[in-house]
Amino acid sequence: MINVDDFEDAARARLDPGAYGYYAGGAGDEHTLRANVAAFARWELRPRVLVDVSEVTTATTVFGQEVELPLLIAPTAFHRLAHPDGELATARAAAAAGTIMCLSTLSSVSPAELAAAAPGAPQWFQLYCSRDRGFTENLVAGVAEAGFRALVVTVDVPVAGRRERDLRTAFALPEDLPTPNLPSTLARQDFRAALSSIVDATLTWRDLEWLRSISPLPLLVKGVLTAEDALLAAEHGAAGIVVSNHGGRQLDGVPASLDVLQEVAEAVGERVEVLVDGGVRRGTDVLKALALGACAALAGRAILWGLAVGGEEGVTRVLALFRDEIASGLMLLGCARPEDVTSAHVRLAASSV
Ligand SMILES: Cc1cc2nc3c(=O)[nH]c(=O)nc-3n(C[C@H](O)[C@H](O)[C@H](O)COP(=O)(O)O)c2cc1C
Repeated sequence: MINVDDFEDAARARLDPGAYGYYAGGAGDEHTLRANVAAFARWELRPRVLVDVSEVTTATTVFGQEVELPLLIAPTAFHRLAHPDGELATARAAAAAGTIMCLSTLSSVSPAELAAAAPGAPQWFQLYCSRDRGFTENLVAGVAEAGFRALVVTVDVPVAGRRERDLRTAFALPEDLPTPNLPSTLARQDFRAALSSIVDATLTWRDLEWLRSISPLPLLVKGVLTAEDALLAAEHGAAGIVVSNHGGRQLDGVPASLDVLQEVAEAVGERVEVLVDGGVRRGTDVLKALALGACAALAGRAILWGLAVGGEEGVTRVLALFRDEIASGLMLLGCARPEDVTSAHVRLAASSV
């Protein structure tokens, strides 16, 4: 297996078809799912030559935290569907690679259990704010106590997207999949409806201030796709924004996240840090994200494919692939470090202007 697509092929062969469809699928006609990947091909790189790149580094900082590569692990649900070690395996691989894993609310382990799997490693927690505010408050307190470095509130799920692959395979969660970060157990078959009844659809910008008041951690808002919402996030005290369409799993028909990254980054300027996810499969994808204004990108499915193929070792291999591709991509682009990549290093392909 020499690239992420190879890992996906191997994962597809290993996974139960329902679980594969759950991981791979998007909402509706999957226009946005495909657009995320296609967008990277539309942006071309503009390399500069005769730059001294003999000492290249992929290391950078995100919210003041040093990471070994500008690629973080996006929060994805239910890692135990891919491998029995689930989130714990992913956390160990992230720690060994020197990057940050963001734990999903929909995980089989609590924040404290994840922290114990990789002591001292920087970890973030993704929050689905529950209607049971007391439950959310306790959960968020546990996140800080466990030593997590940031809270990422996902704002693009007032209702779970309708993913037709799950309906076709009649995908149901296994009986023995714990969900300790939810106030009630999820129905196994129609967990989409169950999740929608847990997540608080009344959430507004004012609640961001409430979240900030109950947590000492920097707050990131994940699921922003417009300059308007990016500015509101900044005004309401977000430290960071994740430009994301949830990997094409929520509202089908929204743009590829890469295509709105520049709009968001320009709107907020230096006020908040901007990250992006959706469709990242190559080191050069990460470089394009940096060029368009992100301080780092996140990968969701690429990591799940590694986990399905080989547990901790599989995730380690996928992260090593990204690191090597980012390092050689930087050198070929004429950049010695991620911060050297600027908007002058990309342009839209002539055929798509
Ligand atoms: C199987 C799966 C589960 C996901 N679960 C969550 C989740 O629990 N919380 C969340 O904020 N985002 C979730 N996401 C979205 C990811 O955080 C991320 O936005 C997306 O995977 C990026 O696209 P990519 O998979 O093409 O890298 C999930 C994505 C996938 C594929």
